Amino acid sequence: MSLKNVRLEVMQFLEKDVDALIEKYLIPIETIWQPTDFLPDSESPKFFDEVKEIRELAKDLPYDFWVVLVGDMITEEALPTYESWLMDVEGVGQVERNGWSKWVRHWTGEENRHGDVLNKYLYLSGRVNMREIEKTTQYLIADGFDIGTDRDPYKNFVYTSFQELATYISHNRVAKLAKERGNKQLSKMCRIISGDEMRHHNAYSEFVERIFAVDPSQMMMAFHYMMKQKITMPAHFLRESGGQISSAFEEFSNTAQRIGVYTSMDYIDILEKLNKRWEIEKITGLNDEAEKARDYLLKLPSRMTRIAERMKVPENSFQFKWVEPAKM
Ligand SMILES: [Fe+2]
Ligand SMILES: [Fe+2]
Repeated sequence: MSLKNVRLEVMQFLEKDVDALIEKYLIPIETIWQPTDFLPDSESPKFFDEVKEIRELAKDLPYDFWVVLVGDMITEEALPTYESWLMDVEGVGQVERNGWSKWVRHWTGEENRHGDVLNKYLYLSGRVNMREIEKTTQYLIADGFDIGTDRDPYKNFVYTSFQELATYISHNRVAKLAKERGNKQLSKMCRIISGDEMRHHNAYSEFVERIFAVDPSQMMMAFHYMMKQKITMPAHFLRESGGQISSAFEEFSNTAQRIGVYTSMDYIDILEKLNKRWEIEKITGLNDEAEKARDYLLKLPSRMTRIAERMKVPENSFQFKWVEPAKM
């Protein structure tokens, strides 16, 4: 049987449990938080006072902070790209409406609240140029992406396991920074988003775990493939209001490193966590090629640490069109 057909069979085999996994990892729509729970109620007479308070508190946050928050929001707002990508993965039946496509739809419904709440907050903050941000989002969606996973469910689930943990880290750090500056409301908002990302990370990790149980060699090879080519952040294809692809992402990523929201050490930590979570060391029944892939994965964190230690992040802020320069 071809590798593709084995994958399809594995996806079909696991599909019967997806309903239970949705129940385990996602929260019913009736009880989960909504963006307005963290924002001023526009029907309330107190609305303008609350907006005023948001704008006052926003003055205490530095330039780099806004760049990172904007970049995070744009990344979330490119959700149409991620949903359509995942719907196209082998075994995910959009038309058949199988368990996997139900997962993707429900996951998308939860994710959609992240960009929504950040977008509304940024709009009210008065600190950012919304039109430039909106243009960047539209360019990012129009450009699309290629995360190197093909239609392979194994590679895609490695990618999402990694990516959900990365977004957990960055939203969580932004929450901490906001709290340190006395912005409790924004901190709460970012912390609740990071909680969603953690649930999603746990779900995708369990998908991978289940695949390891039935197809260990091919799952190991897929994990190896993804880590060898490196996990590209979804916003890698971001360009600032239609400028060059990659330079904006690089500057955004430098900013995130500079304020400690997401660093190259975090990337390595995630890899180590995945190695542990999937008990890569203990997996048995591997063929020779998968054994070599395992060795590579176990040695990769220390190899990457040596490289990361030599890397330097530029000290000066890059001037984005998204955020007005700080007024002194
Ligand atoms: Fe998200
Ligand atoms: Fe996410």
